[in-house]
Amino acid sequence: MDGARRPELLVLGGGGWHWERLARAARELALPVRRLGFPALRFDATARYGLRLGEDEDLPGAVLVRFVPGGSFEQVTRRLGLLHALEALAVPVINPATAIERCVDKSQTSFRLRLAGLPTPPSWTVEREEDARAILEAEAAAGFELVFKPLFGAQGRGLERLRGPEDLPSAEEASGVWYLQRYVPPEGGDRDFRVFVIDGEPIAAMARRGSSWITNLRRGGRPEPIARAGALGELAVAAVRAVGAFYAGVDILEERGTGRLLVLEVNSQPAWQGLQAVTPFDIARELLAAIARRMRR
Ligand SMILES: Nc1ncnc2c1ncn2[C@@H]1O[C@H](COP(=O)(O)OP(=O)(O)OP(=O)(O)O)[C@@H](O)[C@H]1O
Ligand SMILES: [Mg+2]
Repeated sequence: MDGARRPELLVLGGGGWHWERLARAARELALPVRRLGFPALRFDATARYGLRLGEDEDLPGAVLVRFVPGGSFEQVTRRLGLLHALEALAVPVINPATAIERCVDKSQTSFRLRLAGLPTPPSWTVEREEDARAILEAEAAAGFELVFKPLFGAQGRGLERLRGPEDLPSAEEASGVWYLQRYVPPEGGDRDFRVFVIDGEPIAAMARRGSSWITNLRRGGRPEPIARAGALGELAVAAVRAVGAFYAGVDILEERGTGRLLVLEVNSQPAWQGLQAVTPFDIARELLAAIARRMRR
């Protein structure tokens, strides 16, 4: 089978800034690389390994999943299935399909963090509106607010603070699943941290100062450089291990009053354009260098 294994790295995802940075870093590292979108991949029983990647029947040396685009349930199932198939053919897939599944579904991320014994705000994921309402009422009675998040949400879209039962999104708004997480007031105003982890190392970190309680850069948050070492970096590395990812962006919040660090979220398809702006070295190059080492292992 090795005879048909090319040395190149296949990057899955769209073009744009991240691909340009990856392509440039690949040239610097003399790592052969090419890019395809998921639609260009097919299951094909007549191909040598049952897959055709673009025009190619051969297998790449490794796959970097930059971005799995959303789509119909069927499309997303096929895309993740392609990643599982590549892994079944012993192609290193970064991140592995299982890690992507655990991170895309926030209920699974929360479950895995808790299973690993890592600090994360309490969360609940239910399908019955009356269950969501009862949780919200009990939390409000105990003096807590909740955050509603779309199960597959990203970039701060669709997040809502719930102060009482009247704020609960309808079944339609919630797509029939309520992911509820306790709101944690952050130390230092509307601020949290993003740590970028590659192969067990916290390679870069930033604070994000929000223009609202949602600090995502796409929502007007501003990046500020911070140290990646210490407790913050260690927690991020443990969170990435808990979901089984090779690289990830970890959102961490410092609880006001206690100073406790809590993991909010692990992102298995992280963007790094904002982080790059406050990082003195090339993140794309670090990522590709780590993948090249992984390909040689
Ligand atoms: N439980 C919480 N308490 C306080 N602030 C929160 C909480 N959950 C989220 N936030 C704020 O909202 C932002 C976005 O939340 P989160 O990272 O969970 O979702 P997302 O960014 O939409 O998803 P992803 O990180 O998967 O792209 C956080 O960075 C933080 O600023
Ligand atoms: Mg986030």
